[in-house]
Amino acid sequence: MSALHDQRNLTNTSADYVAGSDAAVVISELQTLVEKQSTLLEKEQYGRRKSDELNSGQSKLLEMIAKGVDLKATLSALMLLIESQSNGVTCSTLLLDEDGIHIRAGAAPNLPDEYSQKLDGLSIGPMVGSCGTAMYLKKQVIVTDMMSDPLWAPYKGLVEPYGYRACWSTPIFLDQSKVLGAFAMYYREVRSPIAEDMELIGFATHIAGIAIERERRERELTRHRENLEDLVAQRTSELLSANRELAAALDNLSVTQEELLRRDKLAALGSLVAGVAHELNTPIGNCLLAASTMADKTQNFVAAYKTGMKRSQLENYIENVESSSTVLLHNIKRAADLVASFKQVAVDQTSSQRRVFALEDYLNDVLLTLQPSLKLTSINVVQRIQPGLMMDSYPGPLGQVVTNLINNALIHAFEDRSTGTIHISAHEAEPGWLELIVSDDGNGISEEHQAQVYTPFFTTKRNLGGTGLGLHIIYNIVTGLLGGRIRFQSALAVGTTFYVSIPLVAKTA
Ligand SMILES: Nc1ncnc2c1ncn2[C@@H]1O[C@H](COP(=O)(O)OP(=O)(O)OP(=O)(O)O)[C@@H](O)[C@H]1O
Ligand SMILES: [Mg+2]
Repeated sequence: MSALHDQRNLTNTSADYVAGSDAAVVISELQTLVEKQSTLLEKEQYGRRKSDELNSGQSKLLEMIAKGVDLKATLSALMLLIESQSNGVTCSTLLLDEDGIHIRAGAAPNLPDEYSQKLDGLSIGPMVGSCGTAMYLKKQVIVTDMMSDPLWAPYKGLVEPYGYRACWSTPIFLDQSKVLGAFAMYYREVRSPIAEDMELIGFATHIAGIAIERERRERELTRHRENLEDLVAQRTSELLSANRELAAALDNLSVTQEELLRRDKLAALGSLVAGVAHELNTPIGNCLLAASTMADKTQNFVAAYKTGMKRSQLENYIENVESSSTVLLHNIKRAADLVASFKQVAVDQTSSQRRVFALEDYLNDVLLTLQPSLKLTSINVVQRIQPGLMMDSYPGPLGQVVTNLINNALIHAFEDRSTGTIHISAHEAEPGWLELIVSDDGNGISEEHQAQVYTPFFTTKRNLGGTGLGLHIIYNIVTGLLGGRIRFQSALAVGTTFYVSIPLVAKTA
């Protein structure tokens, strides 16, 4: 009933009484009414004050939550606010552990610490006082008298010393299903809630829910952040160690590359030695034949000399010695020439010395060293080298380029073929520039592989001992030391042609 309503009643009543003209009764009735009205007014004012307090308290609490004030402090402030709204109440909030089983202390500023501590760690269940049961059943549990309610039977001894009789507990939800805790109101009298109490409970659980949820999120964020930091630290250390491994691998690789380069030179030297042996075979064989013929004839001559010889026999012997020594001289000179030119190729190939040289002679010497491998195949080699070209460059590396290109043709182009031709030509294509062309009419290089042939370690013959460094080395020599360019054209089943252009006079290093 509002004060305005009472005011209207008062006016009506006074009019009635004045009409009855019993003044004393009227005055007394009026006094009662005035008193009643002022009580009502006071009550209304009190209600308004409480509701104002609740409103400003709510703002303060929300501000605390927004600022991230410690959860316990926020919940304590909430408990005190609710306690200020209802006479004789002591409030508490218990939290439900993230395991969904254990009760954890929340905030209960006016409950005895000893009592609160005893609740901490209990498991929720269908008969665990008001709060343990409310959290377990996920619904409000109103115990009007703890001393007689079976829910409190096991805990009667716990609560009795403090004199509490009624305890109403309401679960605090994150959403409809997840329980965060429970808000409880304790009274020291047997009591059931009225509408105002229910409003306060609604208010308290709402605010507590916001505060607890925010704290959980924050905790989760911190956990994520820490995880993330750990993860970053872990990844960083993984990266560092991967980097170290890569650096070590790179070191190894450059050592390997140097080693392979050295081996490439050694291999060239090996084939050179084979070439020398092969080429020396003929003149030495000729010498041997001439020398043994001469030895035979001399033996016959000595025997005839002892027994007396004819003039014709002497002439025959002289003729023979003459022709044999011509053969010997000729072949020994050939052998000496060969040794000299091989020596030069060997020096050139094992060092990168610059010198002036005649291209034709030099390339002939290089091709000579390839004869043994060529002779094992029925591949035809046709060479057209412009005579008289002089170069001032690095003959050893140039020889390495030619040797590698021809070897590639022999190994890759004519695989599974019995015949084929390699053309080698060298001429001054434009003033001061030598164009060296090594071409085969073999298998060709597939388009897919063409882009990769210069890549170190790219080989289609790994199982046959290819290292995939040949063309990489050629590319480096041509574009680096020799100061030129290299390109190629290739088509499957047509063949491959490499074009090498280098200056006749190398740039000074
Ligand atoms: N004339 C050619 N005809 C066909 N394929 C070729 C020819 N020259 C090179 N190739 C291809 O290019 C690849 C790379 O050649 P590269 O000389 O770099 O290495 P490789 O010959 O395989 O090994 P190595 O290091 O022993 O020379 C070869 O494996 C081959 O597939
Ligand atoms: Mg090769």
